[in-house]
Amino acid sequence: MSKIVITGATSGIGEGLAKHYANSGDEVIACGRNQEILSDLQRNFAMTPKAFDLTDPEAIKSNFADVDELDLVILNAGGCEYIDNANEFDGKLFERIMRINLISVGHCLEVLLPKIKPHGQLCIVSSSSSYLPLPRAEAYGASKAALSYLARTLSVTLKNIDVTVVHPGFVETPLTDKNDFPMPCKVSVDEAVERIVDGVAKRDKEVHFPKRFTWILKLFRLLPFALWSPIAKRIARG
Ligand SMILES: NC(=O)c1ccc[n+]([C@@H]2O[C@H](COP(=O)([O-])OP(=O)(O)OC[C@H]3O[C@@H](n4cnc5c(N)ncnc54)[C@H](OP(=O)(O)O)[C@@H]3O)[C@@H](O)[C@H]2O)c1
Repeated sequence: MSKIVITGATSGIGEGLAKHYANSGDEVIACGRNQEILSDLQRNFAMTPKAFDLTDPEAIKSNFADVDELDLVILNAGGCEYIDNANEFDGKLFERIMRINLISVGHCLEVLLPKIKPHGQLCIVSSSSSYLPLPRAEAYGASKAALSYLARTLSVTLKNIDVTVVHPGFVETPLTDKNDFPMPCKVSVDEAVERIVDGVAKRDKEVHFPKRFTWILKLFRLLPFALWSPIAKRIARG
């Protein structure tokens, strides 16, 4: 039985992961803000709920004060908002997205890394949008590109902790339900959970899916920016 912290466990990918690990007999500490969903998870899956806002560093410290001996920490919580008009850049939106997708991860690392057992694991959920500059993703894409850099650097520097960075394509969750554009190769939460659980079990350095989508992005990433830029502009025009 493993002891696992999962952030963003009240919805989408995180909720799917939390239910999977709890059903497998693992001890899950489920984090989110939605108290009602956390109570349901506690009642139905015997998880330990932690209700707090990850953008509050003091709340991170106090909520994990009684937690130790962790086998796995999955930093999954995140938000997505788009910059609709880059010429009228929304600095507050940019800050909101950076705070939840990037800065909160730094505060979680400060508190949780010392609580991971030797040979334990850290999993950071980034996004395949981090591979390439994409229209309207000035905030979301930048936060995820920084997050992937952070995860890969930790993978090099952390002693006795294995790091897995996850780069999902589109997954059907409340986060993507808000999108008003085509989402090629969108997968279910169940498929996303299967890929992540499998990659974490193998201690893979990177998990990316669905491959038919992420390999195309990885190929485009090899193009010089001068060649990618007109393609991205065409995507932006729709
Ligand atoms: N869905 C996709 O297509 C996709 C693709 C690539 C990457 N991702 C990444 O995968 C992760 C999960 O996404 P999802 O699609 O499952 O999203 P989701 O269904 O919207 O779930 C987001 C989770 O993050 C939590 N959260 C957000 N802000 C928070 C805050 N300030 N404090 C505490 N918890 C907070 C939410 O908890 P509460 O609601 O309880 O506050 C919720 O549990 C995100 O990092 C996302 O960027 C998703």
